[in-house]
Amino acid sequence: MDTKHEQIVAHMIREVERGHIRSGHKLPSVRALAKMFSCSPNTVVRAYQTLERDDVIYPVPKSGYYLVEGRGPASARTESGPIDFASTTPRGDFLPFQEMEHCLRKAISLYKEELFGYTDPQGIFSLRNELSRYFHAQQIFANPDQIAVVTGAQQAFSILTRMPFPGQGRAVLVEQPTYFGFLAAARVAGCPVIGIHRDEHGIDLKVLESYFRSGQIKLFYTVPRFLNPLGTSYSLEQKRRIADLARQHDVYIVEDDYLADLEEDSKADPLYALDQSDHVIYVKSFSKTILPGIRMGAVLLPDRLLDPFIRHKNAADISSPILSQGALELYIKSGMYKRHAARIREHYREKMRYAIEVCARVFGSGIHYTCPSSGVFITIRLPQYVKATALQDRLLRRGISVTNVDQHLLPENQRNDRIRLCIIGVEKPRIEAGMIVIEEEIRRLERRMR
Ligand SMILES: Cc1ncc(COP(=O)(O)O)c(C=O)c1O
Repeated sequence: MDTKHEQIVAHMIREVERGHIRSGHKLPSVRALAKMFSCSPNTVVRAYQTLERDDVIYPVPKSGYYLVEGRGPASARTESGPIDFASTTPRGDFLPFQEMEHCLRKAISLYKEELFGYTDPQGIFSLRNELSRYFHAQQIFANPDQIAVVTGAQQAFSILTRMPFPGQGRAVLVEQPTYFGFLAAARVAGCPVIGIHRDEHGIDLKVLESYFRSGQIKLFYTVPRFLNPLGTSYSLEQKRRIADLARQHDVYIVEDDYLADLEEDSKADPLYALDQSDHVIYVKSFSKTILPGIRMGAVLLPDRLLDPFIRHKNAADISSPILSQGALELYIKSGMYKRHAARIREHYREKMRYAIEVCARVFGSGIHYTCPSSGVFITIRLPQYVKATALQDRLLRRGISVTNVDQHLLPENQRNDRIRLCIIGVEKPRIEAGMIVIEEEIRRLERRMR
């Protein structure tokens, strides 16, 4: 149960958000609020002081408290609603609803009863065949027998963390920061998890080698392209060296290539293509490019791991839904996927260029952020003493959602000092409006902490 102080603060914020209190209007008297909340006038004064400190209201001597002009929780969302830099789900025009509807209908008429029975745990052959051809065009050579269809990349993470691997290693090695979905899978599977620091320049390959050499690593989970949350990618040379170390020390790598379709550089081969020794497990997701709800993903596995993987997949859900598999097959075969991927690649590239340009203009010096060439994520490092949680709260009151990078870190690495912005759900004109408010709130918190 909230304290009276917190109840009063929350009540006043609600009143402002509903438009019951407007800029320049006097707030209810201390006495009236004390009566309403059955508390002492001191409690109300403390609540008003909290709102004053947050720049929501200001006092006028011998008169009372007033709402700050152009400020307050409603200011950022006034004309056009909240700005969501937290969501990673594609929306609006960039969801191929009609095309998918067409493929779903066609899949039903094509596969008829087969569609509603049990099927191969590895995935229907015709889809694996289509995937094999699609991968081929991206320098990823795997025949249909080496591909397993999964119910989203998340299912691959769940299976890979649980299933046995050759060798003695039990721990999974992850980049820090990394995708929280993989951390969740490892936690639930009971795997020991070790972190290796990664920033926009990459990782320290000597540290990586010492972990590989230790014999304790079962697999190394990496997101070489457009890492969620940093948004940055490894260079070709770094990928080559990582693949080399895996071969030398006989360690498996799980390569999560969830945003491969946004790649601009045709020479930016995945680790899988650079692997000469069958040590890379390649995971593909269709969530960011098509629709997360179809729950489709694919895994390319070395021969040694195929059987245990399929056994675990079978035990988990027998097979991924055949309706989704049939629709995905037709979506790829018809060329719709290729066209759609090109459209969203162009769209996100434009948006990301613009977002980086806005960052340079709005943040100036003193606020450090990652600069990915494309993709959908930017991470902002906050000035000293500014806490990501405090910033998140203040932004939320102004209608802006962002993600705390701590979500992507193991507890021992959490510093509460970075936020992640995702541009998927924010249209271009609103990116700048949102960044301006973020900068304002960072500076305000910085001044308060000095
Ligand atoms: C790094 C990463 N991998 C994979 C996924 C998608 O997983 P799935 O295919 O299960 O939706 C996401 C989604 O946000 C992600 O950020």
